[in-house]
Amino acid sequence: MAQLSRESLHASVADPVLETISFLNEVMSRHPQAVSFAPGAPHPSFVRTLDGHRYVQRYLDHLADTEGLGRERAQLLLGEYGPSRGLINGLVAAALGQDLGTEVPPQALVVTVGAQEAMFLVLRALFRSPSDLLAVTDPSFPGITGAARLLDIGVVPVPERGDGLDLDRLEAACEQARRQDRRIRLCYVAPDFANPSGSRMDLAARHRLLELAERADFLLLEDNVYGFTAAPGAELPALKSLDHGGRVVHVGSFAKICFPGARAGFVLADQEVRAADGTTRLLADEIAALKSMVTVNTSPWSQALVGGMLLEHGGSLRTLGAEKSRLYRRNLALLTDALDRHVGASPPPGVHWNRPDGGFFVRMTLPVPADAALLEVSAAKYGVLWTPMAGFHLDDTGDRVLRLSCSYLDPEQIETGVRRLAAFLRNELGS
Ligand SMILES: Cc1ncc(COP(=O)(O)O)c(C=O)c1O
Repeated sequence: MAQLSRESLHASVADPVLETISFLNEVMSRHPQAVSFAPGAPHPSFVRTLDGHRYVQRYLDHLADTEGLGRERAQLLLGEYGPSRGLINGLVAAALGQDLGTEVPPQALVVTVGAQEAMFLVLRALFRSPSDLLAVTDPSFPGITGAARLLDIGVVPVPERGDGLDLDRLEAACEQARRQDRRIRLCYVAPDFANPSGSRMDLAARHRLLELAERADFLLLEDNVYGFTAAPGAELPALKSLDHGGRVVHVGSFAKICFPGARAGFVLADQEVRAADGTTRLLADEIAALKSMVTVNTSPWSQALVGGMLLEHGGSLRTLGAEKSRLYRRNLALLTDALDRHVGASPPPGVHWNRPDGGFFVRMTLPVPADAALLEVSAAKYGVLWTPMAGFHLDDTGDRVLRLSCSYLDPEQIETGVRRLAAFLRNELGS
């Protein structure tokens, strides 16, 4: 049997960022009785009640009747290879257009294997030279830093403040790159309830970021996975809605508003790409061409499921996500309320946390490193799990921070889990 040395493989295989998820799964499997605030996965009730057959039928009816394809052709479409850019682009474009408040041309969309593939393809398309850099919020979703690692793209961390990206630091990073004959090509940002920090950019910060992107000439990769959890009436416009200069590539996911097993997401890339001979295409065309060499096309069955769900909810992403949004806001309120009652009454010195208005996550700071050893104590002695934030950071500033996710739990589990967490904090950090 041939033996390979790990050093002979691409350096990303040994990058700790790739182990973030398997590490947590391993800890959870060793402590099955623990209440786990670790998984950022959608609530299982939405998967348990899923009637996939009905949704696929709904989409088939739409294809056969409304689109006039006829039964046989519609049925074939789901079983065959499909177009790389997607099957349900018209439905998604109409739905996204409602949310963004602007017209979305279906040809500017690519339906992808989750937001993850969308981010990977956007990076592949936009990064040509080693002097092109990706700025990311720090802490950041490991999916973006991991994808950059796979593609050998240099990453520049930009600290996050309570209200999102530190724009002064981003501007300084642009200047520093320029001095080194490099440039920030793209900046990744999740303006609404980022994973893992839960932070949100206010309207003024969104305008300032767009203005900086224009001035310093970089593009923005907007990750809108948690935007749907904003309370009705408290939604803020997506960066893409405010984007008059074509700076924003917008990525979305059906994992949280439909279900994660669909592995469906999308990218809106309406930027014009001009070739040397003067012809133009959309960035989405280039991304679709790249996709044909990665996953070929997103499973038509998955697209049919998502398409059927959209149709059953009046073709609106907001309506589709409304029930789930309510559950996540309830869970988040239960989590922060339980923290106030059980920890807040007499918090150990140096323990504090944020109170996001949406999303799945609360960030808690400890006076000691929130590392694997402390997590083991928390799990074994107190029966409660959380995620160390160090894995989300590109430097060591997150060593003392942990992430609590409320999405996967029921109310009683949240209450029990926070009571256990309070005991852990009191006993292990109290003195
Ligand atoms: C911020 C963020 N972006 C992207 C994704 C990936 O989404 P998908 O499951 O559609 O690939 C996730 C998944 O948890 C996420 O938290």
